[in-house]
Amino acid sequence: MESKLKPSALVAISVLLALSSFPNKVNAKPEVPCYFIFGDSLSDNGNNNNLETLAKVNYPPYGIDFPQGPTGRFSNGRNMQDFIVKRLGIEDYMPPFAKLGRKNISNGVNYASGSSGILDESGKHLGARIPLIQQIKNHKTIISMLTRLTRNDSTMNSLLSQCIYSVQIGSNDYLNNYFNPEFYNSSRLYTLPEYATLLVQKLSLQLKALYDHGARKFAVYGIGEIGCTPYAISVYGTNGSDCVVKLNEGATYFNDRLKPLVNQLNKNLTDAKVTYLNPSGSPAGFVTNGLCCKIGGGGGELCLRNSKPCNKPRRYVFWDGVHPAEAWNQIIAESAYSSKSPLEASPFNIQQLAEK
Ligand SMILES: *[C@@H]1O[C@H](CO)[C@@H](O)[C@H](O)[C@H]1NC(C)=O
Ligand SMILES: *[C@@H]1O[C@H](CO)[C@@H](O)[C@H](O)[C@H]1NC(C)=O
Ligand SMILES: *[C@@H]1O[C@H](CO)[C@@H](O)[C@H](O)[C@H]1NC(C)=O
Ligand SMILES: *[C@@H]1O[C@H](CO)[C@@H](O)[C@H](O)[C@H]1NC(C)=O
Ligand SMILES: *[C@@H]1O[C@H](CO)[C@@H](O)[C@H](O)[C@H]1NC(C)=O
Repeated sequence: MESKLKPSALVAISVLLALSSFPNKVNAKPEVPCYFIFGDSLSDNGNNNNLETLAKVNYPPYGIDFPQGPTGRFSNGRNMQDFIVKRLGIEDYMPPFAKLGRKNISNGVNYASGSSGILDESGKHLGARIPLIQQIKNHKTIISMLTRLTRNDSTMNSLLSQCIYSVQIGSNDYLNNYFNPEFYNSSRLYTLPEYATLLVQKLSLQLKALYDHGARKFAVYGIGEIGCTPYAISVYGTNGSDCVVKLNEGATYFNDRLKPLVNQLNKNLTDAKVTYLNPSGSPAGFVTNGLCCKIGGGGGELCLRNSKPCNKPRRYVFWDGVHPAEAWNQIIAESAYSSKSPLEASPFNIQQLAEK
């Protein structure tokens, strides 16, 4: 759920140059010992597969460019977090909390759940989901498992303080809550600025809960331009603009409150490092005014089961009605990881966050 329709050839070229130095990381020591992922469908890698919900994608054509096929990732291939994990030098994909099996959890876990939000009720009209508060409870379960493995509290605390905690959530509090008044009353209770304040206050409490559980390195994402997603444009119309103005306004109010929160947290939690990442980019050379698969699945925004997608997903920003295709995920991941622009990563990019 993101996009930004401002072509900028220079940015695109520097991103491509950075990508060309992408591989030769094999066997290097990871830049952080562990990485924990909280969020929604932009990060989910299978946590919704066994939930009763329309917001799951463990069917083709999802995963057509992923070696294991459809895994529950909302993309044709890897999602943005897959690329960041790889960039940090961590060899394996993060195991989804819902399907740990015998996976090694020492390097981290993915708790993200499609359709979930900061507010518990967001996404409920689509079915079951794991809201942020529950994701953090699941993290507590993992901490107790890890504590049993290490059998040493000081080793454990030192480990938890070196991990990166990725938190990308909030789009569903708009798309599957505020802007869906048929199912939710938030737009009758709050103005857009009030609602953004409420969401960021709740998010602040959850970030502090993670801090209380040993987190010291936070990568927190703003909301992308949800009004530019093909599904939003088809549902709401644009009244002559490029995008749905109201939806982007909602995202802007949220981001304008999240950035100062990040600054305050850096001041108040003196032993923590928090950074704000902008999930929008400059899709020069990409198709932005269309999507790759035939939608109608899920709540209407997801690919139809077994439908035939476009021939060249690499050229598209959007894979389905709201989620980016793999190639675009890679570009946004690279920006979060290494951008020197404070508009994209402030005060640190993820590489710098790892070093701190
Ligand atoms: C799990 O991963 C950690 C960190 O990479 C490693 O030290 C440990 O030996 C692994 N445990 C098992 C059971 O493979
Ligand atoms: C825990 O590990 C630290 C550092 O390795 C060590 O100094 C300490 O004695 C250990 N504590 C226990 C209870 O084993
Ligand atoms: C709004 O909706 C929530 C949950 O759907 C409900 O608990 C609450 O009572 C409603 N508030 C009003 C003012 O209708
Ligand atoms: C549509 O755009 C026109 C012209 O900018 C404006 O006057 C009108 O209020 C807009 N309608 C809506 C529903 O936003
Ligand atoms: C940071 O500390 C100031 C001063 O104590 C307080 O007013 C503010 O609410 C705190 N902010 C956060 C996000 O904790």
